[in-house]
Amino acid sequence: MAHGTLPQRILILGCWGQVGRALQLVLGPRATVIPWDKSQCDLTHLPLELDRFAQAIQTLKPDVIINGAAYTAVDRAEEEPELAQQINGTALQSLAQLAHRCGATLVHISTDYVFNGFGHRPYGETDAPDPLGIYGRSKLAGEKAIVAEGCDRYLILRTAWVYSEYDRPNFLKTMVRLGQEREVLQVVADQVGSPTWARDIAEVIAALMVRIHQDPSLSGIYHYSNSGVASWYDFAVAIFEEAIAAGWSLKLKQLIPIATEDYPTPAQRPAYSVLNCHKVRQVLQFTPPHWHQSLRQAITQLPKP
Ligand SMILES: NC(=O)c1ccc[n+]([C@@H]2O[C@H](COP(=O)([O-])OP(=O)(O)OC[C@H]3O[C@@H](n4cnc5c(N)ncnc54)[C@H](OP(=O)(O)O)[C@@H]3O)[C@@H](O)[C@H]2O)c1
Repeated sequence: MAHGTLPQRILILGCWGQVGRALQLVLGPRATVIPWDKSQCDLTHLPLELDRFAQAIQTLKPDVIINGAAYTAVDRAEEEPELAQQINGTALQSLAQLAHRCGATLVHISTDYVFNGFGHRPYGETDAPDPLGIYGRSKLAGEKAIVAEGCDRYLILRTAWVYSEYDRPNFLKTMVRLGQEREVLQVVADQVGSPTWARDIAEVIAALMVRIHQDPSLSGIYHYSNSGVASWYDFAVAIFEEAIAAGWSLKLKQLIPIATEDYPTPAQRPAYSVLNCHKVRQVLQFTPPHWHQSLRQAITQLPKP
């Protein structure tokens, strides 16, 4: 994907999350990246300490602020709705104000969980959100806060089914670990989406950042996932095939497809979570890599035991 010249000073919040780490890897060689973790900016404190953060950010003079930080524990959010709302919703209003005040482009990552998943065709940016759970509701609140602030330049990138080689909770790492520990595994086969590699998300953010920096009218919500569709079961099959091909030794002998109702979770998940990525394809003139192709690459990046 062609990139052009990146804005030069980029502040990344949540720098050690899956997407945060991928962003550091992709942007690091081409710009001055200022990585912030929770110890430097805890989003729960942001609204109360707005002036202190405003001063810090004025000193750093970032061209872009990327928010890779979030409350991502989908099930736990059902028990901690206020905390999820504070981190994913309320804090975004403050972050948008900060970006607006210092004239930085704000980049934020959102989720397919803003939709209910009752549909049968890929969700577009203008489809009506209707989150099923607390996590999705809190992420939608964050999106709305950014749009309401009216920043000159912003990007809200909704993505889905994010995985990575990094040591953060994600489906790829969990499957590879369980495949080494167990002979039989059951995986849900009636939820479908597009598994998306964190590295590909970082590349697309870089490319969109360049375009929005040049042309602020391109600001807005974008959907991005890897191409193709899979159930969690299909994804698991592919993970084990690719892991074996890459030389991993697994204990697993049997993978059993099950229904969502046989694996109850506190938060309801969207059954159909496919995003329509037409807008990003048009603006960047590219086709997102197929999920299986990216999976193969990600597996080569996994640290072997
Ligand atoms: N994972 C998915 O499948 C998925 C799907 C769609 C969209 N998304 C969105 O994509 C974005 C990145 O997700 P990810 O998978 O990279 O998440 P992740 O690996 O869980 O990373 C989230 C980061 O946020 C930090 N964080 C949590 N609470 C914080 C707080 N109060 N203040 C500051 N930082 C805090 C975490 O730090 P600590 O570890 O120190 O708490 C961590 O570094 C999120 O906005 C998420 O909603 C994710």
